[in-house]
Amino acid sequence: MGSSLLEGIVKSDNFDGMVDVIEPAIQDFLKEDFKKRKVNFYSDIKEKKDTIDYDLIFVATKPNIYEEIFISLKNNLIINNETLIVSILAGIRISKIEEILGSVPIIRAMPNIAASALEGMTALIGNKTITNKDILNVDLIFELIGEKIWLENETQMDSFTAISGSGPAYFFFFTECLKNIAIEEGFTEDVSNKISQQIIIGSGKLVKDSGIDPKELRENVTSPNGTTEAGLKILLDNETGLLDKLREAIIEAKKRSIEISDN
Ligand SMILES: NC(=O)c1ccc[n+]([C@@H]2O[C@H](COP(=O)([O-])OP(=O)(O)OC[C@H]3O[C@@H](n4cnc5c(N)ncnc54)[C@H](OP(=O)(O)O)[C@@H]3O)[C@@H](O)[C@H]2O)c1
Repeated sequence: MGSSLLEGIVKSDNFDGMVDVIEPAIQDFLKEDFKKRKVNFYSDIKEKKDTIDYDLIFVATKPNIYEEIFISLKNNLIINNETLIVSILAGIRISKIEEILGSVPIIRAMPNIAASALEGMTALIGNKTITNKDILNVDLIFELIGEKIWLENETQMDSFTAISGSGPAYFFFFTECLKNIAIEEGFTEDVSNKISQQIIIGSGKLVKDSGIDPKELRENVTSPNGTTEAGLKILLDNETGLLDKLREAIIEAKKRSIEISDN
């Protein structure tokens, strides 16, 4: 996720800054990709001997090592009211970061994996210290990797995580199911892959580009007494249909998000 963000930021025509990346095992392709741009790579924060006042620090490590990471940021970098911290760590509340860094400007962001295809969906929420300039800068960054929304309060992050953070996996599973059913129907694996992938890509493109509500798109493609109507009867069933199953799945994912945040 960190690499996707870096790519979005650095490859943008509007980018005119300098980036330092701290990453223990830097992959050669990253170094190669960013060779001609103003990106410096360090394998340890302690290698940063200069004292730069960073405008913005992104934290994109795994959440389970958040304490170690924020303590090391505090001990090795200059962090004050002029430095914006952006954390994409799932389940780590702003208050947990403030316990370590104090009430410096902090924004919590929840992107999803589609960011690596520059079609991500990110939710953002900041603490009281952030300024309008911080909001503008972060808007610009997350717009480079897809769409973004600002939440009204941090508790919405759990619902958002369950819907959008996990959302791509639901669609990957839907694609996987279509593929498996195509194989059961006698198509080869290659053909089944092509069919299932193109359904998701084509439908996604229509949802995005047509500007038509998905319900209307569905109704437009459902001829009375036709094949789609016959299939949809099963999926739209009030008791055993897809809506209830999806709601159940999202409620479970949300519960898990709350559990992780409370730990
Ligand atoms: N993937 C998603 O869809 C998604 C969505 C929303 C939010 N997030 C959040 O994004 C974060 C990263 O997720 P990910 O899937 O990208 O995980 P990941 O691929 O494991 O990325 C974590 C990166 O942090 C590096 N790292 C470990 N220790 C470090 C240190 N001390 N200093 C600097 N870098 C260090 C890791 O390097 P090594 O590999 O060498 O250990 C790795 O490159 C997580 O907090 C996750 O909750 C992910």
